[in-house]
Amino acid sequence: MARNKDLIAASKARKDEFYTQLSDIEKELRFYRDHFRDAVIYCNCDDPTISNFFQYFHLNFAKLGLKKLITTCYKNQSRDWFSQHDKETSIGLSFDGSNLLPDSIELEGDGDFRSAECVELLKSADIVVTNPPFSLFREYVAQLMEYDKKFLIIGNMNATTYKEIFPLIQQNKIWYGASIKSGDREFGVPEHYPLTAATTRVDKDGNKYVRVKGVRWFTNLDYRQRHENLILHKRYSPEQYPKYDNYDAINVDKTADIPMDYDGAMGVPVSFLDKHNPEQFEIISANDIRLSENVPFKKHGLIKDKDGAIGGKPKYVRIVIRRRRGV
Ligand SMILES: C[S@@+](CC[C@H](N)C(=O)[O-])C[C@H]1O[C@@H](n2cnc3c(N)ncnc32)[C@H](O)[C@@H]1O
Repeated sequence: MARNKDLIAASKARKDEFYTQLSDIEKELRFYRDHFRDAVIYCNCDDPTISNFFQYFHLNFAKLGLKKLITTCYKNQSRDWFSQHDKETSIGLSFDGSNLLPDSIELEGDGDFRSAECVELLKSADIVVTNPPFSLFREYVAQLMEYDKKFLIIGNMNATTYKEIFPLIQQNKIWYGASIKSGDREFGVPEHYPLTAATTRVDKDGNKYVRVKGVRWFTNLDYRQRHENLILHKRYSPEQYPKYDNYDAINVDKTADIPMDYDGAMGVPVSFLDKHNPEQFEIISANDIRLSENVPFKKHGLIKDKDGAIGGKPKYVRIVIRRRRGV
């Protein structure tokens, strides 16, 4: 299995050309129908000539009751456009349903999501939906937060523990989307892309694909399923759930083993987020349960690295949770 190798390599090499499959977009979008009525949607990392995000919203424009769809892309994505036009600017499309075909947007610049003209388009949007470049995930999310936008974007679980991302999850400002909880997902890659991963595929038309593990949707759009309680069976015992050396919390190795009768802080695996109901548990910062001032303050707020040891033996990275009263 390729694990996260391809996305990590993409991050390093700044090769961000992973194209989302239409079926994955459809599977996620069905959880959010009410949010999209009358909304202006912006896909800001999407070549409209190839993006399945553009395709999805264009095809479902009336069904979703959208107000407007805007799509722009970064210069290196739209290869055909550049070979034909010999210019360094980028392109986009805008569709409001009044004509059969979308209007073309010719950008002045290279279509970078951070450029002033793309930020203007961002300001006009209600919801941003895309798979952004993984190498710029931190900046991408920071911009969405700065402009207070609703969003539904694809990322990798690796991003969850970033010091720029985890505090947003802890504060219930971002959560995982509904449709991907485990396994891997297939993405299209350009023809020139080197296929190093074990799990790759070329279809009968020569299109290349790679399977990637750890993919998650990240969103701030609410959906019903994330308010369902996790059903628990285990009972607490100090022997089974030892405390960390440096934090006032018990360690839980598997989400399913969270004790149903423990009210204090618990360190749980990152995969807990796939099951998290914010009314059942609150996520707290590990900094708030340090046992002494000598334990370093961590910007990410996780139990991590050598400070997360039990009896001197470090555990894997842990999120700290506490049961809500009365649940
Ligand atoms: C992971 S791919 C996904 C493409 C498309 N959104 C999809 O899901 O099929 C990320 C895309 O972002 C583009 N990109 C890279 N840097 C960018 C930037 N600064 N501004 C906008 N797009 C960028 C890449 O060219 C790439 O096509």
